[in-house]
Amino acid sequence: MYRVLESELAEARRRRDGTPEVLDVGGGSGVWAVPLASAGCAVTVVDPSPNALATLQRRAADAGVAERIRALQGDTEALEVVGPPDGADLVLGHGLLEFVDDVPASLRALTAAAAPGGAVSVLVVNRYAAVLQRALAGRVSEALRLFRDVDGRLEGSAGDTLQRRFDSDVLEHVLREAGLTVETVRGQGVLSDLVPGSVLESTAGAADALAELEIAAAARSPLREVATRLHALGRVPS
Ligand SMILES: C[S@@+](CC[C@H](N)C(=O)[O-])C[C@H]1O[C@@H](n2cnc3c(N)ncnc32)[C@H](O)[C@@H]1O
Repeated sequence: MYRVLESELAEARRRRDGTPEVLDVGGGSGVWAVPLASAGCAVTVVDPSPNALATLQRRAADAGVAERIRALQGDTEALEVVGPPDGADLVLGHGLLEFVDDVPASLRALTAAAAPGGAVSVLVVNRYAAVLQRALAGRVSEALRLFRDVDGRLEGSAGDTLQRRFDSDVLEHVLREAGLTVETVRGQGVLSDLVPGSVLESTAGAADALAELEIAAAARSPLREVATRLHALGRVPS
């Protein structure tokens, strides 16, 4: 996933002959925005949470990139007004679609905020990984309820803050419906979230092998289908 974003930004640098514009929707406390600003991007973060934005500003200042990040309070409905005027080279919706009220409308807004030929990067929680992880932890009834729920959530459970989880087919479908050409769907955390840390520490070469396996498995079904999160990159028509 990082490679996909890096190559997207390299392309944007060539196209724009300068600083890539990134719009990070639901960017929260800057998990993505701060590294992207450190990599030389101009980043606009739009998020409804004042607390998250305050943390973002602190992190940006600590990293010395405050002047490259614009933090704006708002939601997906505000993008038309607050996004970069010519559209962003890269629009992020990472950890966002699980929370919004209307997925198609949000994705249309993300797509409209991207420049022609730009990209929309979406990262979501995978419903099947959530089932698998609960079952492996012995929470089998919860795993069954989650598996059966149409939105892949634990209906009525105070512990489940997500409105929905995704699988790769649904993710591709909603991106296409928003007018995007889906270029990649990859898993993130295919095996690394399942292998115990103690194994990696005690077995020579295991960490390197796992990192290599993770990259190879990210794009390969059926392993991709059990990754903790799914990442998709959609292309906006030129
Ligand atoms: C799980 S966090 C993801 C933060 C960050 N993007 C990341 O990947 O670490 C979800 C964020 O989405 C924001 N959010 C929730 N509903 C939103 C909406 N309708 N429009 C924009 N952001 C929203 C929340 O305030 C929160 O900061």
